[in-house]
Amino acid sequence: MSLFDYFFVFLTLLLGCLADCPAGSLRGSTSTNCYKVVGSPTSFLEAQSICLSHNGNLTSINSAYENLFLASNLAELFPTSPNIWTGGNRIIVPGNWTWMDNRPFSYTNWNKGQPSSVSGNDCLTLNLPAGTWSAQSCSLTLPFICEVPSTSDQALTSAPCTAPTVPPHPTYSCESGWHYFEYTNQCYNISNAGNWQTARLYCMQVGGQLASIHNAAENGFIIDIIPNLDGDTWIGLNKLEGSWEWIDNTPVGYTDWAYKEPSGDGSCALINNVNGYDRLHWNDYDCNGIRNFVCKKSAMVSYGK
Ligand SMILES: *[C@@H]1O[C@H](CO)[C@@H](O)[C@H](O)[C@H]1NC(C)=O
Ligand SMILES: *[C@@H]1O[C@H](CO)[C@@H](O)[C@H](O)[C@H]1NC(C)=O
Ligand SMILES: *[C@@H]1O[C@H](CO)[C@@H](O)[C@H](O)[C@H]1NC(C)=O
Repeated sequence: MSLFDYFFVFLTLLLGCLADCPAGSLRGSTSTNCYKVVGSPTSFLEAQSICLSHNGNLTSINSAYENLFLASNLAELFPTSPNIWTGGNRIIVPGNWTWMDNRPFSYTNWNKGQPSSVSGNDCLTLNLPAGTWSAQSCSLTLPFICEVPSTSDQALTSAPCTAPTVPPHPTYSCESGWHYFEYTNQCYNISNAGNWQTARLYCMQVGGQLASIHNAAENGFIIDIIPNLDGDTWIGLNKLEGSWEWIDNTPVGYTDWAYKEPSGDGSCALINNVNGYDRLHWNDYDCNGIRNFVCKKSAMVSYGK
C-alpha cells in the first residue's frame, strides 16, 4: 500500500481487545469507548457528518489519560500530520467551547497562547505528538477521530477483555548532524553539494529521502537549519510528466513558490537563496545544477517511562 493510499483509507488498529468495538475502530482508553480514525483530510463540519454516519461524533477528550492515549497512538499513525480534528469547537455555541457529543468541556490542554483569539479559528485540533490543543480554522482539511458506540454493552459487564493500558510515552531523537522537528517527528540534514539526482541517492543511502515539505512550519524549520543560509537547497520536489510530485510519494498540498515561479526553466525544485530573487521561496531549476540539499528521515523512537 502506498503512502498515498494510507491517507485515504479508514485505518484499522488492533489494540487490546476488539470484541466490542465495530470493525476498523480502535479500542479506547476506557472500557466503554471506541474510536474511528479517518486519515482522509476533511473540513471540521464534514468530518462531524462522517462521524454521524458511523453513529458517532467527532471525539471529545475528557481527561489527561484519554488525551495521552489519543496523542501517543495517533502520533504513530500520522508522523507527517501534526494536527488532527477532535470535536471541540466554538461554533455550535458561538464563542463558547463545547464538544460535539455535549460532554462537559472541563478537562483542557491548550498549547501556549491558545485558544487563539483569531476570529474564525473556532475548531479544536489535537497537536501531535505533544498532545496539546490549538484553535484552528474550521475549513482546514485534516484527518480526524470519531468516537463511536461499542457494539455490545454486555461486554462491559462480562468484562471479557483485559483493561487496555496507556502506551508509554515515545521520545524521539536524531543522529548527530540531523535536526529533530517535533511537529513531524522527522530528522533533517542539510548537506553539500550535488545535482538533484545525486542528492536524492545520497538521502536514500543514509536512510531517508530528499525532503518533502507539507506546511509553512516545516518549510520554516528547514530554512532555519540551512547553515549561514549558504546557497540554494534542493528539496524533494520534481516535475514528472508535467506535474510536480514529491519524491517520497507524499501528496503535494502546501507549496511556497517564489514570485512568478515555477517559470518552467527546470524540473527540480530548490529553496532559492539568491538575494533579489524572492529569496527563501521555491524555484524550479535545472536538475543538473550543483546545490546543497536537504534530506529527511524518521526520528528514532524510544519508549521511556
Ligand atoms: C458562554 O459562557 C459564558 C461564561 O461561562 C456564559 O455566561 C454564557 O452564557 C455562555 N453563552 C452561551 C451562549 O451559552
Ligand atoms: C453524539 O452526540 C450527541 C449529542 O450531540 C449525543 O446525544 C450522542 O449520544 C453522541 N453519540 C456518541 C456515540 O457519543
Ligand atoms: C549534515 O550531516 C553532515 C554529515 O554528518 C554534517 O557534516 C553536517 O554538518 C550536517 N548538516 C547540518 C546542517 O547539521
